[in-house]
Amino acid sequence: MRATSAYPKARIVIVATLLGILAWRRWAGKLHGAVWYPTRTRVVREMLDAAQIRPGDHLYDLGAGDGRIAIEAALRYGACAVGIELDPIRCAWARSRARRADVDQGVRIVRDDFYGYDLAGADIVTCYLSQPANDRLQGKLARELASGARVISNTYTFSGPRFEAMNPSAPGPIHSYKMVGARQAE
Ligand SMILES: C[S@@+](CC[C@H](N)C(=O)[O-])C[C@H]1O[C@@H](n2cnc3c(N)ncnc32)[C@H](O)[C@@H]1O
Repeated sequence: MRATSAYPKARIVIVATLLGILAWRRWAGKLHGAVWYPTRTRVVREMLDAAQIRPGDHLYDLGAGDGRIAIEAALRYGACAVGIELDPIRCAWARSRARRADVDQGVRIVRDDFYGYDLAGADIVTCYLSQPANDRLQGKLARELASGARVISNTYTFSGPRFEAMNPSAPGPIHSYKMVGARQAE
């Protein structure tokens, strides 16, 4: 008797837990314009190759997820990488991955909203967001990035007078830009 009455309760708990996990997966990103979909390893390498990283360059990954782009940039390209991520659980995950990869000196994972984060120190910005998120970011990048900074976006594009396409005919999901001209005023 007890077992049968406990069974529906257990089902409710399982369903509620699954719904909670699903909501968490979508929450932080969706509110701000990008859910969490990790960039595939091959594409991470292609993005970093496109960025023309010199050792010591400062790379900011906007919406770092599990930290894979920042970690790879520090590990294989010698970049000083900053991953900015809103979701606290993904931040903790990214920090733990950086520790395990033994690159926590070269990688800083910051829990913050990238729309409010000062990007002026970036030599390279990487992102995999959504078209509305890129559209919203465009003015901030044009105001804050120095001439010569590279912007590498998975799938979604940027446009505007300061964004010079680096390899416009390249096939695949990567869009790479070099910032030209002076920082735009507000
Ligand atoms: C599509 S995932 C990309 C993750 C990682 N960059 C990659 O390529 O594997 C987008 C990430 O951006 C984060 N995100 C969305 N809006 C954000 C914001 N305004 N500030 C910080 N992180 C944000 C989401 O939480 C999610 O982890």
